[in-house]
Amino acid sequence: MKRIKIFDTTLRDGEQSPGCSMHLSEKLEIARALERMKVDIVEAGFAIASPGDFEAVKAIAGILKECTVASLARAIHKDIDAAYEAVKGAALPRIHTFIATSPVHMQYKLKMSPEQVLEMIEDAVSYAKKYCGDVEFSAEDAMRSEPEFLAKAVYTAIKAGATVVNIPDTVGYSTPSEMAQMISYLKNHVENIDKAEISVHCHNDLGMAVANSLAAITAGATQVECTVNGLGERAGNAALEEIVMALQTRKNLFGAYCNVDATKIYQTSRLVYNILGLQPPLNKAIVGQNAFAHEAGIHQHGVLANRETYEIITPQSIGLPTSRMVLGKHSGRHAVESRLSELGYTLSKEELGQVFQSFKELADKKKMVTDRDLEALLKHKKVEEQVEGFKLERFTVNSGNYVTSNAVVRLSKGDKLFEEVAIGDGPIDAAYKAIDKIIDGKPRTLENYSIHSITEGEDALGEAVVKVKSGDAYATGRGLSTDVIEASILAYLNAVNKLLQD
Ligand code: KIV
Ligand code: ZN
Repeated sequence: MKRIKIFDTTLRDGEQSPGCSMHLSEKLEIARALERMKVDIVEAGFAIASPGDFEAVKAIAGILKECTVASLARAIHKDIDAAYEAVKGAALPRIHTFIATSPVHMQYKLKMSPEQVLEMIEDAVSYAKKYCGDVEFSAEDAMRSEPEFLAKAVYTAIKAGATVVNIPDTVGYSTPSEMAQMISYLKNHVENIDKAEISVHCHNDLGMAVANSLAAITAGATQVECTVNGLGERAGNAALEEIVMALQTRKNLFGAYCNVDATKIYQTSRLVYNILGLQPPLNKAIVGQNAFAHEAGIHQHGVLANRETYEIITPQSIGLPTSRMVLGKHSGRHAVESRLSELGYTLSKEELGQVFQSFKELADKKKMVTDRDLEALLKHKKVEEQVEGFKLERFTVNSGNYVTSNAVVRLSKGDKLFEEVAIGDGPIDAAYKAIDKIIDGKPRTLENYSIHSITEGEDALGEAVVKVKSGDAYATGRGLSTDVIEASILAYLNAVNKLLQD
């Protein structure tokens, strides 16, 4: 059995997708979860892209002990300098440098001849190699490159010291058979190919990213680049959970395995969705809410008789909690603690105390507190901890189809209280205007607003997510409550507090 290394790029390619930018503390939390799940390599970011990216890569390099930490860098010295500065503190640092090799990219984007591109590869890889033993080279848009030229590029990178050569399907254009052919071609035509690991990095524009990655494995690739929940540019990257479960479920077919602890998949997937304020599509393979739900009578009958009739993987294998313990207002601290631990969360005594307090408040308003509710409470406790600033004390709104909506909002900051009244186009707008008046009188723009319920039922918790713009700066805020207006106000305050901190 050959071992496949799992290279996770949620924090780099995943973060590049619209609406997926994350704060440092959120990136650190994901990095820790990836290490717990035992991925081999964490691509922590693109160090040169911004000071925030640089700091994030550096901080992640400082905390991960078992995983290799990589930073992306274009094939130019200043990018490679920044990448090395950011990862040098890692137990296992890697510089990941790339340049495009397809005719369309070389001619229109790089405006370089193929010979110049080869020179850049040789220069960048040997420059990175002076800093770091572990250097990955990616031939961007490899799958639309001329195979002969791609082979030269790969040969040049390995000769200059690359330990990993990555073959990305940057635009998600390939099919599984083409992918396998390209890997076989490189294995047969690159003289020094045995000196490096072959990696693939597939995008999902035609929905084939996972199939393409698996086809590459059958042809000899030993590293796969992927993201949690398949996040990533445009239609995303190959989904980590699908690759891992395909390898685990069809181990004999692929003759390959990976070291990822699949029982951490559910928790890591939820963590990433929660941080981004996104819900998994219901039918998302492996982690969607319906992935293990059997609706049709004939299927239910079969599953009751023997699970294997319609279930090829068990919920337990991805760490999905199966017991249906219901928590309510009579549940004690111990029950909450043991449920959280079944869900994979280990809290300190102090954290448990805070979550238990929020749980009690929620259980007073809601008959049953579900796993989703508990996770939402945990997530929002963290959101609040991360952002200091104004706090909501109380609010009153008055609204109807014959009155102009108005709101009175009282906030506190430290030991000071502030109160304002405002009218608006609906109660939420009125409350937001009252908050703006309290803060500095400056209007902010609400770029995006959404609200969804965490679970079903009329007493469900609602989570509001807003994107607020102030000048050139943006912030995303989240608020949680059984009252949608309160959730909306909390989300706005969360975003405004972030903007005030920046
Ligand atoms: O899609 C791509 O080609 C990339 C490379 C930079 C690895 O993300
Ligand atoms: Zn990519």
